[in-house]
Amino acid sequence: MTHPPQGPIPLTLAVNGRELALHVAPWTTLLDLLRLHLDLTGTKKGCDHGQCGACTVLVDGTRINACLALAVMQDGKSVTTIEGLSRGDELHPLQAAFIEHDAFQCGYCTPGQICSAVGMLAEGHAEGPDDIREQMSGNICRCGAYPNIVRAIGEVMGAGR
Ligand code: FES
Ligand code: FES
Repeated sequence: MTHPPQGPIPLTLAVNGRELALHVAPWTTLLDLLRLHLDLTGTKKGCDHGQCGACTVLVDGTRINACLALAVMQDGKSVTTIEGLSRGDELHPLQAAFIEHDAFQCGYCTPGQICSAVGMLAEGHAEGPDDIREQMSGNICRCGAYPNIVRAIGEVMGAGR
């Protein structure tokens, strides 16, 4: 059976609080939409296979791997990327904590780490460093900055209690 060629599909999306009406090819991932179409290059492409977490963003407040999600599946949803976490010049507490605790080296994994941590804290299941390590295990850091990442997240988690 042959299928007719599929043209661009209409999509409405709020990205970092901005309402967008777009047309995207049906095979476009959310990651490629953000990086290639919207120039939001803070979200990183590492493996492109759901294994590294570099592409983590928040969709309706839930953390997901943007490389595994088709853009058209996000119709009507709200996406937050690392660019949308600060309020003007005021950093999100996790961004500030990552700087304070020196929680990165090359920084490639950092946007995904921070977005994932925002989602993890919202889930509310972490109580200590072991939980943080377990629940952040989908975010790989090739530089091995894990001890400081856990400290940074732990500080914000403690402040929220
Ligand atoms: S780029 Fe998405 S998980 Fe690695
Ligand atoms: S800081 Fe380099 S990969 Fe994490």
